[in-house]
Amino acid sequence: MSQYTLHINGKAQTVEVEPDTPLLWALRDSLGLVGTKYGCGLGQCGACTVHLDGVPARACLTPVSSLGRQKITTIEGLDPQASHPLQLAWQELDVPQCGYCQAGQIMSACQLLKQHPAPTDAQIDAAMASNLCRCATYTRIRAGIHRAAE
Ligand code: FES
Repeated sequence: MSQYTLHINGKAQTVEVEPDTPLLWALRDSLGLVGTKYGCGLGQCGACTVHLDGVPARACLTPVSSLGRQKITTIEGLDPQASHPLQLAWQELDVPQCGYCQAGQIMSACQLLKQHPAPTDAQIDAAMASNLCRCATYTRIRAGIHRAAE
């Protein structure tokens, strides 16, 4: 086990884990930040999406030892009041069904809106294609992104 100081949601936090421990498990098991979800563990579903220095990344594939001083943002840190426009839109439009994938969806959508403040349906579909939803809430996710962009 080794100690690592991670810069998460604006705070420095120390975890003691094996170097190859995925960030996902440091967040969930060591720090109690359980908004980031485990889906596939293979980088294929997007449920574990967080931001590293503002860029979406798969926490299940990111070893803690690789992080250095990168700024990590999880769904808990996206907005101090949980009132990011995407979070408000998700509530207003009842986007989630089971909800499991939605934190990852929002973290990816956040990046999309930075790149395309008023995205087209095609831009949304392309940007969100690697975030899977077993409940198939894709139509509502698209609507939520449009609402957040208003
Ligand atoms: Fe990381 Fe599926 S759990 S991409």
